[in-house]
Amino acid sequence: MRLTVVYENHAGFVKGLLGAHGFSVLVEHRGRKVLIDAGADGKVLLSNMTELRIDPGEVDFVFITHGHYDHTGGLKAFLNAREEPVRIIAHPEIFRHRVALKPHRRNIGIPFEREELEALGARFILKEGPFEFAPGLWSSGEIPRRTWDRAVGYVEENGRLTRDPVPDDIALIIDLGNSVAVVTGCGHSGVLNIAWHAEDVLGKPVRALIGGLHLRGAKKELLNEVVERIDAERLYAGHCTGLDEYAFLRRGLGKRIEHLHVGRVIEL
Ligand SMILES: [Fe+2]
Ligand SMILES: [Fe+2]
Repeated sequence: MRLTVVYENHAGFVKGLLGAHGFSVLVEHRGRKVLIDAGADGKVLLSNMTELRIDPGEVDFVFITHGHYDHTGGLKAFLNAREEPVRIIAHPEIFRHRVALKPHRRNIGIPFEREELEALGARFILKEGPFEFAPGLWSSGEIPRRTWDRAVGYVEENGRLTRDPVPDDIALIIDLGNSVAVVTGCGHSGVLNIAWHAEDVLGKPVRALIGGLHLRGAKKELLNEVVERIDAERLYAGHCTGLDEYAFLRRGLGKRIEHLHVGRVIEL
């Protein structure tokens, strides 16, 4: 399994790569290439793909971790940059109309209609439960919230706002034989729930958990709980993890946790 960070809040030290708020990584496993999420801005996504010599036409699947703009905003540019249609794995609720109220009211859902993406070649495979979409590549399906989660925002329906539990937050589970690797976008389901669920789906321990852990602003008790209860062998945290929160986890977990940046490659 080879994972390349394509889009991340942190540019790292590789010349020519752009850092911007959002998330996208390319996973290569058993001869298939999966693009997980598409960042917020298509120009940044395609610029980084060019620098990293990733051809949009070579991608076999797109996997959308949840329907927030910073994971889906680059989809249109990605589809425009390739000729063949592409299968997009996601949860049926990704097209909810989503709103954030702080620091000001704004839309935070997918900035496109399903139909316009389909016209550009998107072939959606939307499922609630876990399933294997290619050899050794699984969608986690909905992640049970056994302990605290990190849901954000509201859903707007008929002019009414209700809290959004982000039910469409799913993770990619990669079968490594005796263990699994897990890729999460924003970690809205809660990092502990994600790790436990990934372990349950394939009945194998988590060797690496990679992605955004959404811990910005989290209380110390909660961060301590992550240090004490996380059973992933290694964590690669980035995007919405939060720098202070990452530093706290690093003090507790030592070299078991590392930070992500654009261009970072992880091979397992
Ligand atoms: Fe995010
Ligand atoms: Fe998110």
